[in-house]
Amino acid sequence: MKIAVIGMGYVGGTTAACFAELGHEVWGIDHDAKKIQLYKTGKAPFYEKGLDRLIKHNSSEGRLNFTTNISEGIKEAKVIIIAVGTPPKEDGSPDLSAMEKVAQEIGESLDHYAVIVEKSTVPIRTGEWMNKILGKHLSKERFDIAACPEFLQESTAVSDFMKPDRIVIGADSEKASPILFELYKPIVAPKIHTSIKAAEMIKHAVNAALYTKIAFAFSVSQLCDAEGNVDCIEVLRGVGLDKRVGEAFLQPGPGVGGFCFPKDLDALIAIQKQFRVYPGLFEAVREINKLQKNHVVNKVIKSFDGDISNQIIGVLGLAFKAGTNDMRLAASIDIIKELQKKGATIVAYDPKAMDEAKQIFTNIEYANSSEEVAEKSNALLILTEWPEFQELDMKKIREKLKIVIDTRNLFEPKRMKQLGYIYYCMGRPI
Ligand SMILES: NC(=O)c1ccc[n+]([C@@H]2O[C@H](COP(=O)([O-])OP(=O)(O)OC[C@H]3O[C@@H](n4cnc5c(N)ncnc54)[C@H](O)[C@@H]3O)[C@@H](O)[C@H]2O)c1
Repeated sequence: MKIAVIGMGYVGGTTAACFAELGHEVWGIDHDAKKIQLYKTGKAPFYEKGLDRLIKHNSSEGRLNFTTNISEGIKEAKVIIIAVGTPPKEDGSPDLSAMEKVAQEIGESLDHYAVIVEKSTVPIRTGEWMNKILGKHLSKERFDIAACPEFLQESTAVSDFMKPDRIVIGADSEKASPILFELYKPIVAPKIHTSIKAAEMIKHAVNAALYTKIAFAFSVSQLCDAEGNVDCIEVLRGVGLDKRVGEAFLQPGPGVGGFCFPKDLDALIAIQKQFRVYPGLFEAVREINKLQKNHVVNKVIKSFDGDISNQIIGVLGLAFKAGTNDMRLAASIDIIKELQKKGATIVAYDPKAMDEAKQIFTNIEYANSSEEVAEKSNALLILTEWPEFQELDMKKIREKLKIVIDTRNLFEPKRMKQLGYIYYCMGRPI
């Protein structure tokens, strides 16, 4: 099937490459000429394991093409997938201006019937709104709107796309749904057919559920920290093995980040307010996440007996999670800013996100390795769970510094104590 994907970021890039791998003829479209140029050389403009191989393979087979021109890319496409960004506005509601612009451009150039799919995360009723925009340019017979939200996670995006827990096909028209079932046919997964509105709501609700679960784990770990002698790893395992709860996402950490959970929860709160529905649960979740970042900052301050002015803190990990270079809304941003406010100097290293971090922080020193960070710092603050940090020779590093604040619980407290560290982790007794 010939399809077009508009917006070649983390979601669009993965979607285009994976659909090509599944045998469809795909055009990837983005208005950013630099990104399209990179794709043409076989590379994604972001780090995602396994994706470059798919791009190269399918481009060379002629199934994957790229352009900056919407009217060229959508020519003869049966399905047009929109995967542009929906960033938060100041009041937390999503900015749909990129969706609007793309819908207008499609409306101006579409000369055949196509199913236009919302893949971006959008609020309920966006389908109706898109219908109106496209309806200004096209007759009703020319197009159908549908919503197929994306549930992939960065760092495992390709396998999440190819082996999803389920596929949601939100389509109200009898003509559009069989086309979408055919599109997704090669993927073996439960496929549920819903209304467009339900599909829009499912995506926001899933992200809110997962974020709530993480906030729950943060709350439990904060309580374990306060009690001082109970291990939150044991507690959360005991909770997670209950099938009704489940183990996934039950871990403490430095705070939730990334381009999905924080912005989508803000959007859901804004939507609840718009519909006059009580937003208290998700407001509390957001607050717990804020407190978790403060909790990390307080641990750093405590490790220096209350004063970090003129101390050099070595930050290991800047990306919002391991396996990606994505720094959007990463917990490291707020934590570093707060430490700087309290007078600390930052030296940092991340295996993949250094270029992205440099766009955000011009006032920190960037090291070339974890060892260099340790060499230059008075304390190590681990913020991302990159496996290579777990491999560090902590015995050797102990010769350089004494304080480690480990927000990902990468090390065993007992061993760190034996090595002579002042060691802080999350919700575990030292
Ligand atoms: N990143 C994730 O893990 C993830 C997962 C599921 C859903 N989502 C949702 O998918 C959507 C996209 O997220 P992302 O992380 O891929 O964003 P992104 O910022 O990485 O990518 C968006 C792309 O759209 C392009 N774009 C913007 N306006 C355009 C226009 N007018 N014409 C052509 N291209 C245009 C941008 O240049 C960019 O490359 C968002 O709604 C997000 O919430 C993201």
